[in-house]
Amino acid sequence: MVYGNEGEVGRAIKDSGVPREDIFVTTKLWNGDQGYLSTKRALKKSLQRLQLDYVDLYLIHWPKDYQKTADSYQALEELYRDGYTRAIGVSNFNFHHLEHLFETAEIIPHVNQVECHVKVQNVKLQDFCMKHGIYLEAYAPIMSHKVSELLAIEPLQEIAKKHHKSVAQIALSYLLHKDIIIIPKSVTPKRIDENLKAQSIHLDDEDLEAIRKLNSGGKIFPDPDNIDF
Ligand SMILES: NC(=O)c1ccc[n+]([C@@H]2O[C@H](COP(=O)([O-])OP(=O)(O)OC[C@H]3O[C@@H](n4cnc5c(N)ncnc54)[C@H](OP(=O)(O)O)[C@@H]3O)[C@@H](O)[C@H]2O)c1
Repeated sequence: MVYGNEGEVGRAIKDSGVPREDIFVTTKLWNGDQGYLSTKRALKKSLQRLQLDYVDLYLIHWPKDYQKTADSYQALEELYRDGYTRAIGVSNFNFHHLEHLFETAEIIPHVNQVECHVKVQNVKLQDFCMKHGIYLEAYAPIMSHKVSELLAIEPLQEIAKKHHKSVAQIALSYLLHKDIIIIPKSVTPKRIDENLKAQSIHLDDEDLEAIRKLNSGGKIFPDPDNIDF
């Protein structure tokens, strides 16, 4: 919602003629709409803009204070039960946000969408999420506006050369090997195709170990514990 592109996405889906069930649509609840009733209103408005009856995944975009998040999440659960969304989850949640959510949640979030790429691999957060049955979904999987920095990482370049693939494909393939959902964004048809083909790459143990070592920190997007939107 906060990206202001639901109207365009809705029109594009309609114009494409692709059957609804072949498309996976996610939207997110922005901070100003958090709260029990306002969350319910927010998804219904998003659906109007998207010209859809349901989304496939609805996420709380950003953690607010624990009580407000709990109220918003209760609304998400009801929206899920009522068929307005096929899955629910959260985004930018750290351990403590999830632990507090578990105190009131009746449905464990299906997804936690967080910044995740070769430099910020979120190993411990993923372990925690998987233990609770939550899938980690990587946003900025090829380092977003810093993609040129990712393309210049030498060990990735060497692995890409070995497999006759691009550096972006190797970085995406690594996340897939770790059972992390990826949502790379591109407006370039050739790159969209290239990114889809990352699914068929098989990295060996040596490749995986070399990429594991790139986990050096350097978050690109704000840390939810240190910013107040
Ligand atoms: N939950 C959150 O708080 C949050 C925050 C940030 C992002 N997100 C979501 O995460 C998704 C992806 O994140 P993102 O767009 O920030 O980052 P990203 O997917 O890591 O990177 C996108 C950038 O990489 C370029 N690119 C794509 N494929 C490439 C390829 N094969 N080779 C070279 N360059 C390539 C794109 O250029 P072109 O488009 O010009 O091809 C674009 O500049 C978005 O859909 C966004 O909605 C969520």
